[in-house]
Amino acid sequence: MSEILTEGPRACITGHPVAYSRSPLIHNYWLKLMGLKGHYGRVDTSPEIFPDFVRSLAKNNYVGCNVTLPNKELAYQLADVKTERADRLQAANTLWLENGKLHADNTDIEGFVSNLDERAPGWHAHLDKAVILGAGGAAAAIIQGLLERRATKIVIVNRTVEKAEQLARRFSTLIEVQSFDNVSAALDHASFIVNTTSLGMKGQPPLALNLSHFHHSALVTDIVYVPLITDFLKSAQEQGLKIVDGLGMLLHQAVPGFEHWFGQRPRVTAELRALIEADLFQVKS
Ligand code: ATR
Repeated sequence: MSEILTEGPRACITGHPVAYSRSPLIHNYWLKLMGLKGHYGRVDTSPEIFPDFVRSLAKNNYVGCNVTLPNKELAYQLADVKTERADRLQAANTLWLENGKLHADNTDIEGFVSNLDERAPGWHAHLDKAVILGAGGAAAAIIQGLLERRATKIVIVNRTVEKAEQLARRFSTLIEVQSFDNVSAALDHASFIVNTTSLGMKGQPPLALNLSHFHHSALVTDIVYVPLITDFLKSAQEQGLKIVDGLGMLLHQAVPGFEHWFGQRPRVTAELRALIEADLFQVKS
């Protein structure tokens, strides 16, 4: 556990693993930029020790934390006060202390939606067929984001169909489910597609799909951001489709937590993006 002695409030990213998380870079950049006292670190917690860590937040001068895999569901369960979005996902990635109570939110939804609002304004005007590849925790956040932006049709495509069916049932009976074997049919005339699987991530096989059935106005996005432009996004771009990379989701999901912990709302800027991109590039080379 990190024992950095620092002036001002402390926050951190916690989960397992956290060694490669870029969240400290983001939050400490904002702290410095705004001239605020405080520090954002990393604390590795297995599910066994996570509840104790959360119960000792105040004692250790923490005002809250971000929570990553595998502790997001536990974080939700341990909180005293939960936002509607956290309730919807039964999982939390942001915890903060307020009047002695532990509050929980799921800011992945805001991260997803705000990234698209920034990079593809008006993106939600054409959600008449949105296809989500994958059915994990990230897919759940994205379904909620799409429903909040009034998507009229959502299709989940997943290798394990039962997992997609379970996820669909949690949200709406109107969500369709397809296996990866039928991905071409699922993609037919889709106006929006998002990859939430780990395919295409550095060290993983690529996500190879035929995108020729797409509307020329379709928007393609990926939550993978290492590499920044995945092969999937590259091939969409080559087809003339609009693409949005996944880095902005990471940057935007950080905003509400920082505001709760340190009292000021930070901005996602080109300078911050460049800083994180440079760090990602350094690791790649
Ligand atoms: P997260 O919570 O970050 O979304 P996850 O719950 O592990 O992560 O979900 C990973 C997603 O990637 C799942 O939809 C998984 O498919 P399964 O449900 O069939 O496991 C998908 N995925 C991972 N590796 C895959 C592969 N090689 N081919 C197809 N889908 C894959």
